[in-house]
Amino acid sequence: MRFDVLTLFPEMFSGIDASIVKRAAEREIIEIRIHNFRDFSDNKHGRVDDYSYGGGAGLIIGLQAILDCMRSIEGHESAHKILFTPTGNLFTQKKAREFSQKKHLIMLCGHYEGIDFRITDYVDEEVSIGDFVLTGGEIPAMAVIDSVTRLLPGVLGNEESAACESFTDYLLEYPQYTRPEEFEGKKVPEVLLSGNHEKIRQYRRFKALELTYLRRPNLLEKAELTEEDLRFLDMIKRGEEF
Ligand code: ADE
Repeated sequence: MRFDVLTLFPEMFSGIDASIVKRAAEREIIEIRIHNFRDFSDNKHGRVDDYSYGGGAGLIIGLQAILDCMRSIEGHESAHKILFTPTGNLFTQKKAREFSQKKHLIMLCGHYEGIDFRITDYVDEEVSIGDFVLTGGEIPAMAVIDSVTRLLPGVLGNEESAACESFTDYLLEYPQYTRPEEFEGKKVPEVLLSGNHEKIRQYRRFKALELTYLRRPNLLEKAELTEEDLRFLDMIKRGEEF
């Protein structure tokens, strides 16, 4: 899968070459190309922004350099083009799965006060990574590269680790523990040491439901719940322990 990122701050992406994403690039499962669209400015000073029509503070990035940069990318016509903006549709695990089916993503990172609104006619979708305002689309682009890459076949060692984690079935993931059994008086839940696989499965499901109910109750509306889940949820609502 190819990621092409258009930015004015390519140096921000030096951190993307680490850990699982680095390994995926080394194995040629992904290829990341970072482009500085200032290099495409037809202004002799390399200027890419200008004042906002109608007035107001801050500079707006114009269309010329960023579109010339995009059009220089091989295969840009068929690539899926994303614009990062706080006014976009919310990025979710479902969106990450959808993007992971694409062969080629082109990501446009605005900065300052944003890009001339007409850019929206040249992209397939506008994406926000959350209800907060960042200085630009670079961190969102890294978030998308990271979350999409780990879903690609062969990237995670154990295929299961992508299959039963938070949000996959609209539930938050259950808590996990490792050695030692006791740390500063805090014990690992007894049931996890029992070796009883069915009990452990039930406990983990209960904890996933409990965490989702307490922290993200809206997710439960979308989750597919079994009879057992509903029974567990009744217990959770009554404040009962597993
Ligand atoms: N640019 C600035 N803030 C953003 C956000 N929350 N998501 C996507 N792009 C952005």
